[in-house]
Amino acid sequence: MLIKRKRGWELPESAVTPEHIYLNRRNLMKAAGGGLLTAAGAGLIAPGFAAAQQDWGTVRGASEGDPTADLYPVTRNPAYTVDRPVTDAEFATTYNNFYEFGSHKEIWRAAQDLEIRPWTVRFDGMVEEEREIDIDQLIRAMPLEERIYRLRCVEAWSMVVPWSGFQMSHLIDYARPLSSARYVRMETFLDPDMASGQQQAWYPWPYVEGLTMDEAMNELAFMVTGMYGQPVTRQNGAPLRIHAPWKYGFKSLKSIVRITFTDERPLTFWEEVASNEYGFWANVNPEVPHRRWSQARERDIATDEMIPTQLYNGYAEFVEGLYENRQDEALFM
Ligand code: MTE
Repeated sequence: MLIKRKRGWELPESAVTPEHIYLNRRNLMKAAGGGLLTAAGAGLIAPGFAAAQQDWGTVRGASEGDPTADLYPVTRNPAYTVDRPVTDAEFATTYNNFYEFGSHKEIWRAAQDLEIRPWTVRFDGMVEEEREIDIDQLIRAMPLEERIYRLRCVEAWSMVVPWSGFQMSHLIDYARPLSSARYVRMETFLDPDMASGQQQAWYPWPYVEGLTMDEAMNELAFMVTGMYGQPVTRQNGAPLRIHAPWKYGFKSLKSIVRITFTDERPLTFWEEVASNEYGFWANVNPEVPHRRWSQARERDIATDEMIPTQLYNGYAEFVEGLYENRQDEALFM
């Protein structure tokens, strides 16, 4: 007998979506044979879906004229929802960390200087063949879907966002790494004339992050190209960022230009800045405090409510197996 066990982070879609939209979408899913609509179906929009964007609030700095705008909204994957309301878009798009544009939270206007076209992503290192691809070609080749994920920043604030994009494993398949590759290293653009924060020479630009191959292949690891049913805004990491929801937000690199497969653990941006405070693994754990503050609770950026933080940000059942043989390492910083 097939028993579907509910994971801790799973809730029915009806818990986060206004009912009329949820019901419309259910009909659409039925029409599609019950399966997840992928690339070919990405243009199919449930009647009423557009209204959902209004319910989510105003997206500031929406990417007008984005050449992929016609792709959104994409169909939600109902397997990924959470037990908290979606954060009003106005908060998620005006309270950001993007040090390339300043070291405070109000960088969203400054980030409008980010030129997101032309944009290419380079795949190199331990791959069958190094190559560079135009971002629009890449996005259009991938099976886009929407997932509602939590984001927990190491600074103890959090939000819930409907991200659009594709599972990172599809990107890995596309890149064709060699079997000897053990890590994925990702890099943001470097352009101090455009991004004034990069003139601050004490930071080790460009921003670099990394995952093990196992982490990158985990089904939760997601490449973000959109949010709130639109292309992702510049301040949130256009045109391509990652989101690994069981890790602190600093692992979720924005505005990616290069992806390198390697057998050496990458030295990441914050590790290089302060290795005694920010490590490579950075898995969320309420019981392991940061050197300067507790991680037991987090502040919802929209409501200011303080809520308990969950191990692996509520995604333990998905990812704890990744760390079974690594208990001696600093998994939670
Ligand atoms: N990526 C780049 N390139 N530069 C950054 O400063 N900040 C990180 C991460 N990705 C950052 C980045 C941190 S600390 C967090 S918490 C998240 O982005 C914030 O994402 P948000 O602004 O979409 O909430």
